[in-house]
Amino acid sequence: MLLGAATAMAATISGCRGSGDSSQGDPQAGDAAAPAGNQEIGVYSGRHYNTDKELYKEFTRRTGIKVNLLEGKDDALIERVNSEGANTPADLLVLVDAARLDKANRMGLYQPTRSEALDRDVPANLRDSQGRWFGLTRRVRVAVVNPKVADPASIRTYADLASPALKGKLCLRNSKSVYNQSLVADQMIQRGEPATGDWVRGMVANTTQPFFTSDTPLARAVAKGDCGVGVVNTYYVARMLSGTNGAEDKALASQLVVVFPDPAHVNISGAGVTRHARNPEAARQLLAFLASPSGGKGYAEANHEYPLQGYGNNAVLKGFGTFRSDGVSAEQMGARNKAAVDLMQANGWK
Ligand SMILES: [Fe+2]
Repeated sequence: MLLGAATAMAATISGCRGSGDSSQGDPQAGDAAAPAGNQEIGVYSGRHYNTDKELYKEFTRRTGIKVNLLEGKDDALIERVNSEGANTPADLLVLVDAARLDKANRMGLYQPTRSEALDRDVPANLRDSQGRWFGLTRRVRVAVVNPKVADPASIRTYADLASPALKGKLCLRNSKSVYNQSLVADQMIQRGEPATGDWVRGMVANTTQPFFTSDTPLARAVAKGDCGVGVVNTYYVARMLSGTNGAEDKALASQLVVVFPDPAHVNISGAGVTRHARNPEAARQLLAFLASPSGGKGYAEANHEYPLQGYGNNAVLKGFGTFRSDGVSAEQMGARNKAAVDLMQANGWK
């Protein structure tokens, strides 16, 4: 989608790499750093989209730095970097969700990175205050409504999901979902623990189905009218609408109305330079490239996510309209993850 004519990326991690000589500057759009010889960096990524690979190739083209990519599930990659310790071939660890970035950080897997480009391109609330990780894309957790079952106008805030008017009409994913955990952490930060506990109880009382295990089946259930309202990340609906999941899902998604609660809970995918990176300077360059408006655009659009600033050019997302972020910091959300999980369990969110 971005560059075309790309060959498959090496999916193996090489244990050997070039010497860590560093080139200066962040490779921004139209400002490619000089090719840096035989440098290599290792990237472990919880994201898994072909278009991400196109961006890594573009980075290599601009800088001469080869990217060795290993994709996997976030928690498995966190465990892997941890167990590899000083021997890890990962220079950059890319993870999905503020809570996972925070988890990796608490385990000491990241090191601080200083970069004017990153400070400029990543809003302060979407990065770690010590520079150990940086948001790269934004994802919004929204209400999807089947207008034949529930009135989209009845949902203006997340609090409305607990309204008795939705009794028997609400469908939720389970509390193991880190997305839901971060949503609850977000609400705890804004509304305090007692109000958030009441809210969770109210939503649980409104649910009509067993808790779902992922967002896409939940969106389908709403589209079919099995539920009136569900809570999902926008990109799942966008994937369905764009036809990525096939014609049936596309038709189903057309039945859904996406409602951004106001203000909206915004989560991120992001990355940081690993503590034991052998080539931290090159990792910082890749990080700055992915966070830059040109690099980040591709990273976000690939998965129907929002770029760090603005709305991007994804036609499906444009159809959803605009939203107002609640501004809660990703760092704070991560820090409240455990409290959120406890609160969900205490109030019946299975
Ligand atoms: Fe996801």
